[in-house]
Amino acid sequence: MEKIVALCKRRGLVYPGSEIYGGLANSWDFGPLGVELKNKIKQLWWRFFVSSQDDMVGIDGGIILNSRVWHASGHIKNFTDPLVECKNCHNRFRLDQLTGNCPNCGKNDFTQPKMFNLMFKTFIGPIENETSQVYLRPETAQAIFINFKNVLNSTGKKLPFGIAQIGKAFRNEITPSNFIFRTREFEQMEIEYFIEEPEKDDDWLSYFTYWENKIKKWIEFLGINISKITLYEVPEKERAHYSKKTIDFLYQFPFGNEELYGLAYRTNFDLKNHEQFTKENLKYRDPFTNKEFWPHVIEPSMGIERTILAILCEAFDDSNKERIVLHLKPYLAPYQAAVFPLLANKPELVNKAKDVYKILKNSTITTDNFLNVCFDDRGNIGKRYYSQDEIGTPYCITIDFQTLQDNTVTIRDRDTTSQIRIKIADLKNYLSEKIAKN
Ligand code: GAP
Repeated sequence: MEKIVALCKRRGLVYPGSEIYGGLANSWDFGPLGVELKNKIKQLWWRFFVSSQDDMVGIDGGIILNSRVWHASGHIKNFTDPLVECKNCHNRFRLDQLTGNCPNCGKNDFTQPKMFNLMFKTFIGPIENETSQVYLRPETAQAIFINFKNVLNSTGKKLPFGIAQIGKAFRNEITPSNFIFRTREFEQMEIEYFIEEPEKDDDWLSYFTYWENKIKKWIEFLGINISKITLYEVPEKERAHYSKKTIDFLYQFPFGNEELYGLAYRTNFDLKNHEQFTKENLKYRDPFTNKEFWPHVIEPSMGIERTILAILCEAFDDSNKERIVLHLKPYLAPYQAAVFPLLANKPELVNKAKDVYKILKNSTITTDNFLNVCFDDRGNIGKRYYSQDEIGTPYCITIDFQTLQDNTVTIRDRDTTSQIRIKIADLKNYLSEKIAKN
């Protein structure tokens, strides 16, 4: 993990938060390359789960919602962790994460557990009192539930269908830890998939299995080895208050087998409660039978930061003493290609390299995917390969003296380091094919 954290800082993927002010514990900022990776994941996720599916639509709801939402959803009452304090060193821990003595001082003398609500509070308007108090959302899901009727009315969707959302969520975690794994501010990619009211106990199970498989396919698409994923059926006492069945997708992080994603059967808990609180009819009317009911919900929920961390852990390779390589899937890499002039002090090479760079930059390689290309003339060619390998750039293109004669360039493959020579005119097709295939 230390090596990954250092690489992330060095290359502009992830920086420690508020660093020049001495930091803000366990907060992180995404740098120029980190934001490329993050945006790519969001874009690919949206295509994979939403725009490629006829039964999916999306929304983008507010971070601050009417605070009654959180009463109805059960978060005010139930979104709590048991907090204990070490009587010796006064560090605070989650009781359910303690395995024995105090991880800080080694003593075994704790206060009685107190239930601590994880929602961040703030106020709307200039007066700070109970009526102006609001919460930062601890999950994106609720904006979907409270817009269920709006989406139904404006799209005319028929069950089963899903509503997706990507956005920030906030939790005042007692023990944020492990780099970007557990933080207080993070992003979720969530789907609430609405299905018919089950007639039999397990009518919802086939949908659950469908989403389980779809999530596995997504994990593989990210280049994560599926053999490093274990499915953990969460026992009732550990499940969220709204869930009748939850499966956690655990990934073998360097610090242990931990939750990457979750899949839950939320029943009709949320729609039913929002109707009870608002007296708005949130039922679905079956167009054939006219029967009204609250749809049940299967919820795949995926954190972006954990996705990035798993991708980085999977891709990081320092087995070769000469170089560190991020074996990212080419479509995930911040840059798909880098263009270099062989020598930075030869204007004819630099100009030609800039021409090639301009041809490739922003070329469309699939209907909604651009080649992201960088230009690099710093240091010598060996150093440039070294730094591109570290950020996972799959292809490095070098313009040399032969290029000036015959309009060919060399392309070096990140994973094999082998090089071939091809015509500039064929570059775009070559890269498109390679990137689509990998
Ligand atoms: N709406 C359901 C829900 O929020 P969750 O299991 O609490 O379920 C879903 O969270 C996902 O959000 C997790 O699987 C994880 O990927 C991500 N996540 C949750 N808490 C996080 C935290 N403190 N830091 C980073 N990611 C987190």
